[in-house]
Amino acid sequence: MVQFTLPTDSAVKKGRIVNKLDGVKNVKKFKIYRYDPETVDNPRIDTYEVDLDNCGPMVLDALIKIKDEIDPTLTFRRSCREGICGSCAMNIGGTIGGTNTLACTKPIADINGTVKVYPLPHSEVLKDLVPDLTHFHTQYTSISPWLQTQTQPPPDREILQSKEDRALLDGLYECILCACCSTSCPSYWWNGERFLGPAVLLQAYRWIVDSRDEMTGDRLDNVEDPFRLYRCHTIMNCTNTCPKNLNPAKAIVEIKKMLVRRR
Ligand code: SF4
Ligand code: F3S
Ligand code: FES
Repeated sequence: MVQFTLPTDSAVKKGRIVNKLDGVKNVKKFKIYRYDPETVDNPRIDTYEVDLDNCGPMVLDALIKIKDEIDPTLTFRRSCREGICGSCAMNIGGTIGGTNTLACTKPIADINGTVKVYPLPHSEVLKDLVPDLTHFHTQYTSISPWLQTQTQPPPDREILQSKEDRALLDGLYECILCACCSTSCPSYWWNGERFLGPAVLLQAYRWIVDSRDEMTGDRLDNVEDPFRLYRCHTIMNCTNTCPKNLNPAKAIVEIKKMLVRRR
């Protein structure tokens, strides 16, 4: 998995050691990024100790336990707890740096040493582990992520698709828009205002290759731009970090190939 160096320990203030578990056998330390926009003394890294014998197996289980039993001010997003909603995306690592992933599917046992938890890199932080994804969602809206047709659909049945055409959507429709890939991409870090980033481009390709969609040309026009598409320089962090094992880098290459063929 790709490793990221985050501007953390030197850039943030010394945090608090919130609790100590004395006499507990199976203790794991968690160092968690804290930021509260309503105070002036942030950000900081707080340290918590969790009794793993009384905790679920995933990093999200530990975060929920910390919030419920130790520190109710700790703030993070989560919903499904099973890798479907994408809301618990954050940067999680151990002794050798972190990776963007889903807290609910990341086993604590996979992490050596102290567990370090940060928000998605290069995102505006609203509070603690909660990034502001407004721009990401605006970019997603800009690719019209819905089926568009011009001919009238049949009145008595769905618009049909062959098995082969349906198979073209495999590896694309599974994307949960967690933003792990886009926030791992250096091109997106530096040009995120104009570069659509791997998640949105994978989604764009999902509609471009859908045999039922009739706006393929307009969709290609919409991404054919030095910034929106061509700021991808095949760095591959996106594919290496995707917690759903998807390949946004390949989707971007396929769009580029379609544009070459169109010319
Ligand atoms: Fe998340 Fe993977 Fe979709 Fe990127 S491609 S948004 S990492 S599920
Ligand atoms: Fe970025 Fe992935 Fe391209 S990491 S540069 S979008 S291959
Ligand atoms: Fe839904 Fe983690 S809580 S993906």
